Amino acid sequence: MSKFSGFYKKTIEERMGILKEEKGVTDEEAKILLDSGSLGLDTANRMIENVIGVNHLPIGIAPGFMINGKEYEVPMCIEEPSVVAAAANGAKLAAKSGGFTADADEPIMVGQAQLVGIEDGALGRFEQAKAEISVMAKELCAGIEQYGGGFREVRARELETGRGKMLLVEFDVDVRDIMGANTINTLLEGIAPLLVERIGGKSRLRILTNLATKRKARAKCVWKKEVLGEETIEAILDGYELAKNDIYRCATHNKGIMNGVDAVAVATGNDWRAVEAGIHSFASMGGYKPLNKYYKDGEGNLIGEIELPLAVGTVGGAIWTNPIAQISLKILGAKTARELSMVMAAVGLAQNFAALRALGTEGIQKGHMKLHASNLAVVAGASGDEIEKVAAMLIQEGRYTAEAAKKALAQLRGE
Ligand code: HMG
Repeated sequence: MSKFSGFYKKTIEERMGILKEEKGVTDEEAKILLDSGSLGLDTANRMIENVIGVNHLPIGIAPGFMINGKEYEVPMCIEEPSVVAAAANGAKLAAKSGGFTADADEPIMVGQAQLVGIEDGALGRFEQAKAEISVMAKELCAGIEQYGGGFREVRARELETGRGKMLLVEFDVDVRDIMGANTINTLLEGIAPLLVERIGGKSRLRILTNLATKRKARAKCVWKKEVLGEETIEAILDGYELAKNDIYRCATHNKGIMNGVDAVAVATGNDWRAVEAGIHSFASMGGYKPLNKYYKDGEGNLIGEIELPLAVGTVGGAIWTNPIAQISLKILGAKTARELSMVMAAVGLAQNFAALRALGTEGIQKGHMKLHASNLAVVAGASGDEIEKVAAMLIQEGRYTAEAAKKALAQLRGE
């Protein structure tokens, strides 16, 4: 019998004992794992299962995002150097050009109830029962009505599949400032028996879709020719054109956008896997494509636009359990989920703009590796003020490898 069987029934201390015995975790490593910071082990232990510690990631601020005339200081939680600097740089150049404009759809989430083994005429039976189904859906979503949300619409479509005909009944719910997964899934599980009774077949999956195409946010910036210079604009357009025409480049282009979007999602306690799944499915509709676009206006300025499905919340779930998420939202000053999604869209656009600007001109390594140099110094064993000194030596040499960092440290220590 594995020592890990029933792991979830053990206390954190007992789990650590097993890890020490079975996996050779040392006392020092246990101390690192159990350093739970502001979250606290008790809270962590309630958030997920089989908890053995807490991971820590830095949170930085990308200042100066002018969006719809309001300035935002954006908290970003990420392990990768130069992402926050790039966002700040993109925001700074956007602000010099008048800032971003942004808007977002009403926060409509969609849930799908699957019926299998249906007989002919299922769509007709759905139409007949639609009013009754709508009444029940409204009741099941009543809790969100006090905030201005609630059930909005239901529709059905038939799918021909390798396992026969299926009916997909889809519910639209305005979830206001929550992400909405629990509201949707509760509705679907509550209403499924009525669907089977009125339409027939067997109820199978009852779950939201993360492809939140009814909950999109958009951001736009007109970067002035005088701010960027004509050559930089051409370089950005060439880089964008490559992403449009080559899926291998497009993956990296979109990864750069997600550097920004995910970092804000993590800082604000949002489900970044849901955000990722939704955005990449969206990018794949009609063939995988860049999530933003660039073009020039008549005066030669560079226009950047982005549109993303963003199912994010400012209340509920991990946002309430994790104090850091609430502090991040306070710093950001986004009052609603729609406002948060607009900021995330602008950050994604700024991030990509900064990366394309660097890539198309001086190259990414100069800025990125300069900021990565202190990481290399730490990995080489530098501590205290040695870190900055070793980083400075690497930057001066223009060599950014672990080996170079080790040599620089040895030189610094006179070894
Ligand atoms: P720079 O022009 O050398 O820096 O840029 P600067 O000293 O002129 O500063 C300009 C502004 O950048 C500053 O304005 C800051 O806003 C910001 P200021 O506040 O001075 O008025 N900035 C910083 N913010 C915080 N900490 C810093 C810092 N330095 C500048 N240390 C910079 C340097 C790195 C910003 C620039 O080279 C850049 O934007 N590079 C892009 C880096 C990037 O995209 N990194 C993401 C990781 S790489 C990746 O995974 C994505 C990628 O593969 C995506 C793709 O391929 O599309 C590249």
